Amino acid sequence: MQHTEFASDNTAGICPEAMEALLAANSGHMASYGNDDWTRRACDAIRATFETDCEVFFVFNGTAANSLALASLCQSYHSIVCHKLAHVETDECGGPEFFSNGTKLLLAGGADGKLDMRGVEKLISARSDIHYPKPRAVTITQSTEVGTVYSLEEVRALGEGCREHDLAFHMDGARFANAVASLGVSPADITWRAGVDVLSFGGTKMGMPVGEAVVFFDHDMAKDFAYRCKQAGQLASKMRFLSAPWVGMLAENAWLTRAAHANAMARRLGNALARLPGIAPLFPVQSNAVFVSMPQHAADALKEKGWAFYSFIGAGGARFVCSWATQPEQVDALVADVKACLA
Ligand SMILES: Cc1ncc(COP(=O)(O)O)c(C=O)c1O
Repeated sequence: MQHTEFASDNTAGICPEAMEALLAANSGHMASYGNDDWTRRACDAIRATFETDCEVFFVFNGTAANSLALASLCQSYHSIVCHKLAHVETDECGGPEFFSNGTKLLLAGGADGKLDMRGVEKLISARSDIHYPKPRAVTITQSTEVGTVYSLEEVRALGEGCREHDLAFHMDGARFANAVASLGVSPADITWRAGVDVLSFGGTKMGMPVGEAVVFFDHDMAKDFAYRCKQAGQLASKMRFLSAPWVGMLAENAWLTRAAHANAMARRLGNALARLPGIAPLFPVQSNAVFVSMPQHAADALKEKGWAFYSFIGAGGARFVCSWATQPEQVDALVADVKACLA
């Protein structure tokens, strides 16, 4: 039997709050292409969550949210600074470059999967001649690809730096819920009040069937974005089924309660694994993902037992991700099997 519980947070099903809203939306005929009540309610719920009159667009997945958001900020001769582990660089099949007609990603390092202004400045000041793609934007992932979280101060420092250098600031929030739940900050403080211009707000990983929201805090930047979505095949005709789950998840902060649960499951897993001889944590567990190194024979044996997990970070490295649906018993079963495999 294959255990896919920890392979990613997108192996989980639909969260009850999202499902209930989806079922409620499945009633009667409604206007299409976003001109319906559910979409209006979802946009309003996002505006209330961020305490500002932002522009909201619903797309099918994170690659589209990131690629189209970044493309809207750049011309083809521009460049975008991101971390070398950023999803936009490693896992979007060149989507940001494609949709922006050639904008180049400039890769920076940075501890724990995080960019800092020093790394950004090094890249953007490397050249100022006409032969180098003009730096135009910075994108960070919150929470990061290695399960860490940018603090409020870290986001603010990047926001200030971006303003100083006239760079647009994008946040890939595929796991924004986990970051907000982990930090205990307000969504407004960690985004627009810290200088973020555009957020790819992840719905799928927090428990929706499908869909992400692109949230523009700067109205000018959202100009014509609807056309971009349409052209890219990202304008849902039955939009209510993309938008309704947002109404369910944002009501009574279900999104944060569910994300806090996923984070707690990751902490339980991280703490238990760290106690096993032969296991070394690779990154601090600050959201819903746990990265550890283990002897290659143990990683192989764990896969033999049917546990699915990614091992793209170093030899013997393993990534385990928890979701709204992860149960403590599943965590304990995984830990028991890791222990057996180490023996
Ligand atoms: C950091 C990050 N950004 C964006 C995405 C969204 O990707 P997708 O296009 O698969 O929805 C993911 C999914 O793994 C992710 O981990």
